[in-house]
Amino acid sequence: MYRPYKEKAPWYDVRSWTRWTWAGVIAAIIIIVAIAIAVPVAIGSKRDSEGRYPDYLKLNYTLLETYGTDRFFDKFHYRNGPDPTNGHVHYVDPDYAATFNLTPTLTDSVILRVDTSVGPSSTPDASTGRFSVRLESKRQYNQGLFLFDVKHSPFGCATWPALWLVDPTHWPDHGEIDIMEAVLPGAPSFPDLGNSAVLHTSPSCRMDGKRNMTGAIANVFGSNTPTTDCDSRLHNNAGCGVSSGAETFGPAFSAAGGGITAVEWRNEGIRIWQFPRAAIPADIQSGAPDPSIWPIPLADFPNTNCDIGARFRNASIVANIALCGDAMPEKVWSASGCPTPCAGKNKCVGGWTKTNCTDFVANNPKAFENAYWEFGEFRVYQAE
Ligand SMILES: *[C@@H]1O[C@H](CO)[C@@H](O)[C@H](O)[C@H]1NC(C)=O
Ligand SMILES: *[C@@H]1O[C@H](CO)[C@@H](O)[C@H](O)[C@H]1NC(C)=O
Ligand SMILES: *[C@@H]1O[C@H](CO)[C@@H](O)[C@H](O)[C@H]1NC(C)=O
Ligand SMILES: *[C@@H]1O[C@H](CO)[C@@H](O)[C@H](O)[C@H]1NC(C)=O
Repeated sequence: MYRPYKEKAPWYDVRSWTRWTWAGVIAAIIIIVAIAIAVPVAIGSKRDSEGRYPDYLKLNYTLLETYGTDRFFDKFHYRNGPDPTNGHVHYVDPDYAATFNLTPTLTDSVILRVDTSVGPSSTPDASTGRFSVRLESKRQYNQGLFLFDVKHSPFGCATWPALWLVDPTHWPDHGEIDIMEAVLPGAPSFPDLGNSAVLHTSPSCRMDGKRNMTGAIANVFGSNTPTTDCDSRLHNNAGCGVSSGAETFGPAFSAAGGGITAVEWRNEGIRIWQFPRAAIPADIQSGAPDPSIWPIPLADFPNTNCDIGARFRNASIVANIALCGDAMPEKVWSASGCPTPCAGKNKCVGGWTKTNCTDFVANNPKAFENAYWEFGEFRVYQAE
């Protein structure tokens, strides 16, 4: 068939472009321009959120206060009365504590213990709660470097011990820093999280950015909903927790002689370290602690998405041992493997009733022989 020859215009000759070609070219330009604008904006905002990780510059610390073991208890109020977290304990005053020998002073250490003497056939008994102690330092602090010499941490069924910083009269507005805490440490079958370091705050304080720590995000209550939101109103007040392994609390920690737990609380963030007895840095031993040369902390709570400087105020040092209470609802207690008369699943026969946590506490004084803190000195340093 005959085809008339027609010279084809080269592609770059715009005079030859059809309306469709023009439409395609214009659409392509619009897409390229849109990408060119959007990508750098996205990268920039990612950089912003990463870039706000604080600079923990070296601060120069000087000693503000020593809690020596000789007059240790003079520096604390004994909170007297029931446990605000519904534990099956009676927190007692200094006289009662002396009567039951709950706060003895030894050579170079002090003890804070749960009563191991009263039981179902004694007067008084522990049917409405076992005697325990909750100390709250008279002095309140705003930031600083805190060193706690901890030789033994409490453990055993039903125990919920804690060493923490809190303003006893402004919770949660002035924040709460749980330095050493554990639920059911040493219980036969509860997940052993080791130490849990946890913050509890008013709303809008999150730990969801970059962190530099060896611990793992965890829920101290052993549930599988670990959270990075520190808001006390969420998740039954689980807070934002970091757990650190079996050697950091309870049986293993105490068998190794404990160590120094350090907290640096400053505008940039809150960091917590634990130094085993055999590995206490020389700068701590010489009385000139310098966190800027310490290794990566167990827990890091940076101010990236939480105004640490504003959220934490006027904190007392608090040490206590609760038993049962809010941390041990029936579900948690029955998962703990703690001994009951009908131990083992579905073996409650012959009219026996399954023992709940409060019955266990009331009837088994000898179960609490390891439920004690043994402390050496506490030291508080402040930045110059
Ligand atoms: C700490 O002390 C050194 C030496 O005196 C000084 O150069 C530095 O500025 C101080 N740092 C702060 C944060 O005050
Ligand atoms: C993490 O902390 C360690 C110890 O302070 C420090 O040497 C290291 O540079 C930090 N790493 C990051 C990524 O910030
Ligand atoms: C901190 O506590 C002191 C008394 O110990 C009190 O005078 C002061 O007003 C408190 N500060 C805040 C911010 O509540
Ligand atoms: C625990 O069990 C006893 C019965 O043995 C019961 O009287 C008590 O109310 C129970 N306590 C709780 C907190 O469930």
